[in-house]
Amino acid sequence: MDEILEIVKIGDDVLREKCTPVKEFDSAFKMLTSAMLDELLEADGVGLAAPQVGIPQRFFVVDIRDGKKYVFANPEIIETSIEEGPYEEGCLSIPGVYHEVIRPLKVKVQARDENGKLFNLSADGLLARVIQHEYDHLEGKLFVDRLDKEEKEKVLKAYEKRQKRGGRRK
Ligand code: NI
Repeated sequence: MDEILEIVKIGDDVLREKCTPVKEFDSAFKMLTSAMLDELLEADGVGLAAPQVGIPQRFFVVDIRDGKKYVFANPEIIETSIEEGPYEEGCLSIPGVYHEVIRPLKVKVQARDENGKLFNLSADGLLARVIQHEYDHLEGKLFVDRLDKEEKEKVLKAYEKRQKRGGRRK
């Protein structure tokens, strides 16, 4: 069965919800995460959080094309490095917007996989970046919220202008 997933865009209230924990790790959940990983590849992204497909629950999928596909359900970031750095981020829910965001360079995270099995992961580089970006989605937060006020207004204005010009085209 193919799940039809649609990525919701900024302005949709579901992106602003504080998501609730995943309660059941059943076959439907597994199928959903698998469909999200497919969608992620198709959309040429590296991370996709449940609220981005309209589901306000605490899970996200990550594929940084390192040969692994990650499911993080009910994740807890248990440690972040003191060392921070910039990285240009984008988001499938704000197409065409890219901006440098400062974040810790390393994280330790505990989460459950698609089967509900608990795991711990220490990440750096792109993986650490994506985990933090996707975790923010579960708190109803978007990467543009981490920019200073003027920068945020600037990039969102440009985005809206493009949306109006480009209509509904992807
Ligand atoms: Ni995002």
